[in-house]
Amino acid sequence: MRTVPMGGEAVDVSGKACLCRVDFNVPIKDGVIVDDTRIRASLPTIRCLMEGGAKVVLISHLGRPKGKVVESLRMDPVAGRLSELLGVHVKKLDDCIGEEVEEAVRSMKPKDVLLLENVRFYPEEELNDREFAKKLAAPFDIFVNDAFGTAHRAHASTVGVAQFLPAYPGCLMKRELEALEKLLRSPEHPYVAVIGGAKVSDKLGVLENLLDKVDSLLIGGGMANTFLMAQGYDLGKSLCENDKKEDALRVMKKAQELDKQLLLPVDVVVAERPEPGVPVKVVRPDEIPEHMMVLDIGPETRREFSRVILQARTVFWNGPMGVFEVEQFSGGTLEIAAAIAQVEGFTVVGGGDSLAAVEMAGCADKISHLSTGGGASLEFLEGKELPGVKCLRGTR
Ligand code: 3PG
Repeated sequence: MRTVPMGGEAVDVSGKACLCRVDFNVPIKDGVIVDDTRIRASLPTIRCLMEGGAKVVLISHLGRPKGKVVESLRMDPVAGRLSELLGVHVKKLDDCIGEEVEEAVRSMKPKDVLLLENVRFYPEEELNDREFAKKLAAPFDIFVNDAFGTAHRAHASTVGVAQFLPAYPGCLMKRELEALEKLLRSPEHPYVAVIGGAKVSDKLGVLENLLDKVDSLLIGGGMANTFLMAQGYDLGKSLCENDKKEDALRVMKKAQELDKQLLLPVDVVVAERPEPGVPVKVVRPDEIPEHMMVLDIGPETRREFSRVILQARTVFWNGPMGVFEVEQFSGGTLEIAAAIAQVEGFTVVGGGDSLAAVEMAGCADKISHLSTGGGASLEFLEGKELPGVKCLRGTR
């Protein structure tokens, strides 16, 4: 009997058909994977199951096809990259339930790896439909969930299947939970959170909850515009959520009441369009021309944010400071990445864009924990119980 450690148990996976939920929701451009971090992050779990002699069947979503087959969101490029990384051929099926899948699983040998089709091609996935979950689980003996990035979604392939199979956390899931648990329960102070990205509406809950825990909250990226608008500034053509003014004011009031430092940009980089080569200007929030938009934090803001970050013993970062994909507007995000990399303490960076930024800044190896979950890490830090974790053995 060959056992592998999972969720605090020694589990015999030898010869067992194992359904492994992974988060292979990777950025793909023209059929080519732009960033394979999430695929590499699940390799330890896949290898561990292979070494234990399991028949490893991987399932993931890719993008948001809304319950329909979308050709550009098939898992084929992922199977190709995974085969290269594992050094074995990973067969890919064009479905994730049904006779074809059952037959393929029956004919697998121990250590074989198979990848199923995008599970979100079925509307039942996001509805966590019980019958669909039963069909997903049907050919298998055990379920392993390594998809930390999707653990905040109560879907059929993250939660539903656990009703029908013994369910365990994979190695990545375990590593993510340990790191984020440390941030939630016992952060060393000063604790600084840097939150960016496009929309306030995505992150309101986490902003409010983080204020209870952190000493400083630094807000950049598109969402800072909404705060600046709430303070009365005219943001020109910038991305701005006018209907979130009251929410932004509430967050600022809470910071004041709790005597927490909340920093917004004091200068910004503006241009007419978020495109390479356009003329740019650095202005103060009260000088934004009406035909221009905010696309990055300015040099003074970068210096101030970096100063606060460098004094921290714990840092959590989610969301870029600007349109960092365009070189001219990447300066703020890269400087923040470099500052976090210099912190002598525990640093966590979460979310696809922020991970790409630390890679771009060449300092990924200086960050204590790179989380593969953007939304999931935010919800975890909000103190919410993640449905995809709750249903696994040994995680409570
Ligand atoms: C992510 O990229 O955050 C996860 O894969 C979840 O994707 P979703 O936001 O489309 O559910």
